[in-house]
Order: sequence, then C-alpha cells, then structure tokens
Amino acid sequence: MRVPFLNLERLHAGLDAELKDAFSRVLEKQTFIKGSEVDGFEREFATWTTSQFAVGTSNGLDALTLALRALNVGPGDEVVMPANTFIATALAVSQLGGRPVLVDVSPDTALMDPVKLQDVLGPSTKAVVPVHLYGQACDMTTIAELSGACGASIVEDNAQAQGASWNGKFTGSWGDLSATSFYPGKNLGALGDAGIVTTSQRHLAEKVRELGNYGSLEKYNHASKGANMRLDELQAAFLRVKLPHLHRWNEMRQRAAARYRDLLADVEEITIPWTDPQATHVHHLYVVVTPKRDELASWLDACGVSTLVHYPKCVHEHKAYQELKHMAGNFPVSERLARQSLSLPMHPFLTSSEQEYVAERIKRFFDRRP
Ligand SMILES: Cc1ncc(COP(=O)(O)O)c(C=O)c1O
Repeated sequence: MRVPFLNLERLHAGLDAELKDAFSRVLEKQTFIKGSEVDGFEREFATWTTSQFAVGTSNGLDALTLALRALNVGPGDEVVMPANTFIATALAVSQLGGRPVLVDVSPDTALMDPVKLQDVLGPSTKAVVPVHLYGQACDMTTIAELSGACGASIVEDNAQAQGASWNGKFTGSWGDLSATSFYPGKNLGALGDAGIVTTSQRHLAEKVRELGNYGSLEKYNHASKGANMRLDELQAAFLRVKLPHLHRWNEMRQRAAARYRDLLADVEEITIPWTDPQATHVHHLYVVVTPKRDELASWLDACGVSTLVHYPKCVHEHKAYQELKHMAGNFPVSERLARQSLSLPMHPFLTSSEQEYVAERIKRFFDRRP
C-alpha cells in the first residue's frame, strides 16, 4: 500500500464542477484584481472567524508582514515568537527591520510556553506572535494577559489552525490582528498562493489594505510606501467554493486524529499529540515524537508511507538567523522536537485502512528494534 502525506485529489474531486464554475465566473467578468470575489471572500472569512474585518493578501508571509507593519513594527522593535515555527514567522519581522525574539515551547503541546514568554517580554517588545502550530490553539488567555501587561500587541500566526479555538473563541479572533495562509496544503487551501489578515479594529484593517495596495486606498493617491500584496479574484473565487466545507473537513481531521490515537496509544516508543482541554485542535499536522525519528521515517518511506518533518530546524538554527547569536541548548524543547518529531500522513480523506497500515508498520518498526 502507498499512503501519501496529503491527498488533494480526493479533497478536490467532489468540488470539480464548482471550482470550474468559479473559474468561468471570473473569466466571464474579466476582473482579475480587486473585484467582487475578493470582497465576498473577505466578508465570508471574517464572519467565519468571528472577526469584524478581513483583508486578502498574496500569501501567509505577506499577511504576517502587513499585520506587523500595520502596528508600525520597524527597526529596533522586538517581536516575540516561538523558536519552533516555520521560518515565515521570523522573516515577516526581519523584512521590517525588527528583531525576532525567540521563546521555547512547551513539551506537551509544542506551542509557545507562556511561562518562558514572561522572561523575554520587556519595554522593547512591540508585538507577540503566538503560532497555533500543527492546528492547536495556543494558551491565548495567558499570552493576552502577559502581552497586555507590557503594552505589546498580538498578531496570531494562524496559518495552521483555521477553525481551532481557545476557551471556545476562534483562533484568528484573539489578537489585535491575525494572519493566515491558504497555501494549497493548509486546512483551507487555495489553488495557488493566498493569505488573509483578520482584525476587529477598523483602523488596522484599513492600514493593512492600504499597505498591501501600494500604500493607497484611493487610486493614484498614495498615503504610504506600501507594497503589492493583494489576494486575486481567481484565488478568492476558489476559496469561496472551499470555505463552506472547512468545518466538516476539520471534523474529519479530528476523527482521523482520534483513530491514530486509538491505534498508536500502546506504542510506548512514540509520544502522540496531546490537546489541552481548553483548546481545540484541527490537526493540520499529526506529529509524533520519537528519538528514533530518522530511522522510523526511512522505514516508513520504504513501506510506502510518506512522512515529513515540521520542522527539522528551529529558527535560530538556520544560517539566515545566525545574527541572533543563539547557541545549541538555548531552546532545549524546540531543539529536541526538531530532531525527534515526525508528521504522519494527515488530511480529511485519509481512510481507516490507510491509518491501520501506517500504525501496523510503526509497530513493526519498534518490534524489530527492542
Ligand atoms: C506557521 C506558518 N506561518 C506562516 C506561513 C507562511 O504562509 P505562506 O506559505 O502562505 O507564505 C506558513 C505556511 O507556509 C506557516 O505554516
């Protein structure tokens, strides 16, 4: 059996006609930038995340950059984020001349550890970026309390957790702003690059829109030195077809995660994901942890099971971030996860028999290596 990591073919199969209709609709209108599809999707996504406003962007990195820029993050400003995240979280800060300040993650959730967050907050902290990594909401109560106490704003990185919640409130609606990605493999994926910023503060929404549209809210009138970071009509039209299915797809991911949990609970050599009782987890990724990570990944590959690592390096371990001058051991939990975590196949249309096969192969791997 072959078990791919992701199967977009199955996800899109039932939507073929609607996606083609969406394409035809845009082609007929001949408006490809700044039209009714983007307007419609922004309204629908804002409602979906219970935010007041949403502004479409070209991708998730640009969404993060625009959100931080709307808060005037610039040279000398510190922006706090977990050491265990995709590089885009840090790049957004660097693009504005700010300094990413890293915090280690909790071993239970792999998310920003609020206790350690306290140690790095200070007068130079302009913003905190909690990353709802793998699909689980961060402890937003504590993060909001600590950030608020030192006057720092919050920009959620919600690229992996659309539809998750903390204490019943959706990710993407906690921060001053939130940025998400619709990279094709995300829980809500476009058919290309796309992203969005959500906020409930009108002035921030307007600032994001202005900055992402050449610094202009009015044609040929430029209030600031902005960029072109807009969502386009085609991607918005495709996303409008897919958004109504997102809750159902998240539930299917949660069922698949529960199946993995049942199948793998008795495998002592691996740690399976844990969900905080105050959080919901939409399982963008299903990440297990084992010191035998590399050997297990090779074995599964030989068995036809595709796995990935999210992420093999922490932010400070990349050459691009040598300037932060961190040393091995500065973020022990994140560094261990970079060596030991393994993402198993996960998507809404993963079948029970595929999961049984993956689990059986994992068990067989550990049985032959006592
Ligand atoms: C946590 C996180 N932040 C930011 C991004 C950047 O999004 P994009 O690939 O759309 O630029 C991604 C996805 O790739 C991500 O997983």
